[in-house]
Amino acid sequence: MANEEVAPSGVDMSVPSIARVYDFMLGGKDNFAVDRAVAEHALRITPDGPQAGQANRAFLRRAVRFLTEQGIGQFLDLGSGLPTQGNVHQVALRHDPQARVVYVDNDPIVLAHGRALLADAGTATVVQADIRSPEAILEHPEVRRFLDFDRPVGLLLFAILHHLTDDENPKAVAARLIDALPSGSYVAVSHFRDPGDRHPDASRKAREVERIFNESLGTGRWRTDEEILSFVEGLEVLEPGLVPVAAWRPDPDEAAPEQSDTYHTFVGVVARKP
Ligand SMILES: C[S@@+](CC[C@H](N)C(=O)[O-])C[C@H]1O[C@@H](n2cnc3c(N)ncnc32)[C@H](O)[C@@H]1O
Repeated sequence: MANEEVAPSGVDMSVPSIARVYDFMLGGKDNFAVDRAVAEHALRITPDGPQAGQANRAFLRRAVRFLTEQGIGQFLDLGSGLPTQGNVHQVALRHDPQARVVYVDNDPIVLAHGRALLADAGTATVVQADIRSPEAILEHPEVRRFLDFDRPVGLLLFAILHHLTDDENPKAVAARLIDALPSGSYVAVSHFRDPGDRHPDASRKAREVERIFNESLGTGRWRTDEEILSFVEGLEVLEPGLVPVAAWRPDPDEAAPEQSDTYHTFVGVVARKP
């Protein structure tokens, strides 16, 4: 799309979108000049942004594989983003041919590209909805048709809660979603983190990128460990706890990641509902 700049219907290519900025960071082609300008501005502060995106996707793949190994066969992926390498249903189906996945995103471009990707996949679907209305997601007919809330579910909250402001109460949103899950369900979260005094340089850069994101996208909140852990309050947090996404149960053959700035500012956690 880089040369043609043609938008699917309902997509405004004059306003940047986080789904498309992230797509650009991951090396995708479903983005416009306005998105690349935001990404390039942020990359001047943290040039390792693309590695952070890749590390987040690798964490997502390891977490989904882990959940299938725990017997989870259905996933609700909120703020799922544009299709990329190793989408949730592709990872899950590799381990469980019966796995079912519902992708949810509020950006119409995700719906357009998701539908194209899933045209032949009877075990996955994509729904356009806003996580700030968790009730609407839980009651959505497509969600109800695909997922059985009497059996454990894998709730995936990757790089989404940091797009809710404090006023939008991400803790209450997560709690409402978790409340709908039966015992034995799992929740996986990744989130921008402000490491504070432990890594002051990374913290300062995180605040600068936070400002750029909020000025251009109107979203993006780098939270403390305590704030992020509050999203899984009441659940059993699995080892190794809340850690940089690259440090969550890395595969044995994976090279140790370089601990650049974004290593400290993008963290993840997996928890089980007792
Ligand atoms: C950074 S991407 C993350 C994609 C994927 N979860 C991942 O971690 O690779 C964030 C996604 O959340 C979506 N999003 C942001 N705010 C949202 C909201 N209020 N409701 C639903 N989706 C939202 C964006 O459109 C975008 O696709």
